[in-house]
Amino acid sequence: MSRGATFLGSEVAIMGGAMSWVSERNLVSALSNAGAFGVIACGAMSPELLDAEIAATKAMTDRPFGVNLITMHPALQELIAVCGRHGVTHVVLAGGLPPKGSLEAIKATGAKVICFAPALSLAKKLIRSGVDALVIEGMEAGGHIGPVSTSVLAQEMLPVIADQLPVFVAGGIGRGEAIAGYLDMGAAGVQLGTRFVCATECIAHPRFKQAFIRASARDAVASVQIDPRLPVIPVRALKNAGSELFTAKQREVAQRLDEEAVVMAEAQLEIEHYWAGALRRAVIDGDIEHGSVMAGQSVGMVTREEPAAAIVAELMEEAAGALDRRAA
Ligand SMILES: Cc1cc2nc3c(=O)[nH]c(=O)nc-3n(C[C@H](O)[C@H](O)[C@H](O)COP(=O)(O)O)c2cc1C
Repeated sequence: MSRGATFLGSEVAIMGGAMSWVSERNLVSALSNAGAFGVIACGAMSPELLDAEIAATKAMTDRPFGVNLITMHPALQELIAVCGRHGVTHVVLAGGLPPKGSLEAIKATGAKVICFAPALSLAKKLIRSGVDALVIEGMEAGGHIGPVSTSVLAQEMLPVIADQLPVFVAGGIGRGEAIAGYLDMGAAGVQLGTRFVCATECIAHPRFKQAFIRASARDAVASVQIDPRLPVIPVRALKNAGSELFTAKQREVAQRLDEEAVVMAEAQLEIEHYWAGALRRAVIDGDIEHGSVMAGQSVGMVTREEPAAAIVAELMEEAAGALDRRAA
């Protein structure tokens, strides 16, 4: 793990995956103070809000932390500049290939760039364009997901790219034994999201945390597209009334398309906007029935609320135990 920890400047190479509304100053500083590496989720924040969030996080920890920026944010360049002014050491770019000039702009601030690589060909392309590290995330993860599982991505990608740059494995990791397994395969570290939602320091609504504690792996399902004309970006979340209504909504919009009561662009926007604001409603307002309770399949291994430091210590103990047993 030392390779990943050296790269991050943390004690252990466990990144707290950025979660919109969840990964703010409290959870991020708690993870970094616990020796892991917290990452602020910028999401749709304005440059002013990000500026305030970074400043508040710095007031709560003197350890390094990262900032996750979404590539399609209209003010991406300004957000990069905000990170630069604060001397943020690591910027994670999520949501698709980095737009032209963004890697260079981040590197010019002195920060390291971490990108998501959903396939081997894209990983190679990103390495050529100069990224400093990669995250490979499988479909077990909470939030927006790709189609391939973590175990397959790890087997396909680690042997080819792990010696070229640090690679962090994400998606479906709930225990340290799995961390040990991916380190064994060449990963420099891991990224976990779901497992950290019920950290005591996390500001998610008590009902959101309770939903995690109650849920089992099979409750964390990917959103389903039911009509080829109406694209749905796959998101893994706990099934609830909102997800059932979403299926009904797709049917209703598809029928209106058939009847030519709505034009295609309008119909697609209706689907796209269905979940707008839904994650905030669940995380902040506690509406776990109609909001989006994004969670990964590892949610079944979240059994109680406990301090971030206790979660990190438990994961490290399990990982060390597994590696010791292997060495014996
Ligand atoms: C509630 C929630 C919100 C998330 N929001 C984001 C986000 O805004 N940006 C991002 O890059 N990833 C986001 N993710 C993905 C996490 O950063 C992380 O990669 C993922 O949770 C790892 O898989 P795991 O959930 O199986 O641990 C989110 C995940 C969850 C559970």
